[in-house]
Amino acid sequence: MHIHHISRQNSVLNTFLSEIRDVHTQKDPLRFRKNIERIGEILGYEMSKTLNFQKSTTKTPLGNSSVQLISENLVLCSILRAGIPLHNGLLNYFDRAENAFISAYRQHDEDSNTFKILVEYLACPDLNGKTLVLADPMLATGQSLVSTFEALKPYGIPKKTNIVSIIGSKKGVAFVNDYFDKNTDLWIAAIDNDLNEKGYIVPGLGDAGDLAFGEKLQQ
Ligand code: URA
Repeated sequence: MHIHHISRQNSVLNTFLSEIRDVHTQKDPLRFRKNIERIGEILGYEMSKTLNFQKSTTKTPLGNSSVQLISENLVLCSILRAGIPLHNGLLNYFDRAENAFISAYRQHDEDSNTFKILVEYLACPDLNGKTLVLADPMLATGQSLVSTFEALKPYGIPKKTNIVSIIGSKKGVAFVNDYFDKNTDLWIAAIDNDLNEKGYIVPGLGDAGDLAFGEKLQQ
């Protein structure tokens, strides 16, 4: 897997990353969602540089303009619910992409700090020969991403998989790196050092789903 750790190079991305992490700015859920969306746009833009393009001609009022346009069929797949703002950011740029949604959630074991990933809902187009973009804002353990990829297998074989994530833990990135093949690219804004006993990234930002959409009752 090829890892593109985008915040290694200073850019405006750092402003959005710092705001989504900041406990004070997090009190504004609209700004939180918007910043996640803007990060999705930046990561999508970086990813777009590695897609295949083909020559095309655009007719202007005054003549013809030659241009290279993306020639791949993209399928954007997000994990509900935290993935929605990141999905929107990607869709802002790849507005003709097809879309897939999956619900994968953690079921925590009350007696220990372990959890399993439950996949319940999946809506997905045919994936054969397409470019799959898996969007998961928080790459904590990597288990949700792998469970999602496994659940997508009956829908066809993509020619290429790109993973888009905002914050990952070193452990989660290593897990995903072991699982996915060499033809997979990871586009990630930041990689943090630790995971706590509940599987949250440290320093991370907290619960991305709750910050975007409000706290849920724990099951
Ligand atoms: N999901 C989150 O929202 N935050 C984490 O730190 C890990 C998983």
